[in-house]
Amino acid sequence: MEGEREAVGVVGVGWVGLVTATCFAELGHPIVALDVNAEKVESLRRGEITIHEPGLAELLTANSERITFTTSMDEVLAATRLLFCCVDTPPTYSGDADLSRVRSVVAQLPEGSEHALVMKSTVPSGTGASIRRDKPDLRYVSCPEFLKEGSAIQDFMHPDRVVVGADAGSEDSADAVESLYEPLGGEIVRTDVASAEMIKLASNAFLATKISFINEIANVCEQTGADVTEVARGMGLDERIGASFLQAGIGYGGSCFPKDVSALKQLAGNSGYHFQLLNAVIEVNELQKRRVIAKLEKHLGSLADKRIALLGLAFKPDTDDMREASSLVLSARLQGEGAEVVAYDPVASGSAGSMLPEVEMASSASAALERADAAVLVTEWPEFAELDWASVRESMASPILIDGRNYLDGVELRAAGFVYDGIGRPDPPDGT
Ligand SMILES: NC(=O)c1ccc[n+]([C@@H]2O[C@H](COP(=O)([O-])OP(=O)(O)OC[C@H]3O[C@@H](n4cnc5c(N)ncnc54)[C@H](O)[C@@H]3O)[C@@H](O)[C@H]2O)c1
Repeated sequence: MEGEREAVGVVGVGWVGLVTATCFAELGHPIVALDVNAEKVESLRRGEITIHEPGLAELLTANSERITFTTSMDEVLAATRLLFCCVDTPPTYSGDADLSRVRSVVAQLPEGSEHALVMKSTVPSGTGASIRRDKPDLRYVSCPEFLKEGSAIQDFMHPDRVVVGADAGSEDSADAVESLYEPLGGEIVRTDVASAEMIKLASNAFLATKISFINEIANVCEQTGADVTEVARGMGLDERIGASFLQAGIGYGGSCFPKDVSALKQLAGNSGYHFQLLNAVIEVNELQKRRVIAKLEKHLGSLADKRIALLGLAFKPDTDDMREASSLVLSARLQGEGAEVVAYDPVASGSAGSMLPEVEMASSASAALERADAAVLVTEWPEFAELDWASVRESMASPILIDGRNYLDGVELRAAGFVYDGIGRPDPPDGT
């Protein structure tokens, strides 16, 4: 049976493309996966993956016989009719999405062919229409991706919903995409291309808004004595609000939220609409990363020549992705104040090294904390909760701990002799 199935094409095998290729292979489909990065293709052929994503390496190995990695578009076109476009769409200086990689894929598709381009890359609303203006015969389906790094396989295999957008002339291709996703069981949202594109941007912008909102509540809590974790717990139980994305901290980062919020803001601006709310969401997020400096100064005075340990560098746990990580802004600001910065991340120290050349990389959390005047928890890796804090305290120059993710147990840490400062969690009045 399996040999009779038509192969699925995947163009761009980064986070989204590799997960898409591997998961469709797991569902039994032969895959031809293309990337312009010949080195990446070579290492994938050897079964080596260059990103840290839980379970992905194992699933890829289990399905390696179904996946062909190539640098040749001709090979993809010969074997497949559905091409999932998973290339990156980074921000330009103007804040718009850079669609040059998408356009280079489109340019390689022959006129009037049977192939359909299925857009998984996040693109501004209107991109599909503009591609079809240039290539009116191209079958085009928008199928935005909602996976989260760190739980990408789980998210792909158990989607909340699958959005499939198609306009006149591409319905058959959209049906084919729907049937690929049907076994996964998520609700299929069948719609037009422009709406599908907007669902993706609006979803990410909404989640980012939730984060900036709770961060502002946290900042008010610091003025008023309320504890934002209690406030979020009480708010989140209201099913109209929901508990997710209500964790106050030092701001969102990563490859998606910052760029997608900015792309939506620019898209609105380019169409003549001033999206006021998103301006505030972005500004709050930028300021939130910097508030740690004031917290450190409150405890240490000037930061010049102070040794500050950053625990975690990746933009979130279970990934080594450093794109737009809060640690980048934070370490630059600390160095700007004259501090010496030492850092440890369980998986991202390597990828972070070239982005943070002035930061000393430690081999463990305890090594990073040795002689530190203060520590900042930047990424909530589980190993930081398991650390023997009472014994590392002895090795620190002063036991000051800023918990940038409200991840650790403040009561326990204070009992162990730490000056513990979270985000939106003022010291309890009874000193516990
Ligand atoms: N990473 C996420 O969590 C996530 C989640 C949802 C949506 N997205 C969106 O999916 C898209 C891809 O994101 P990513 O994180 O996987 O990017 P990535 O940078 O990890 O991977 C992109 C891949 O595309 C390849 N590529 C670039 N141009 C190419 C071309 N012309 N032909 C073939 N390959 C090409 C690159 O070499 C790279 O391997 C983006 O639009 C992103 O916004 C990402």
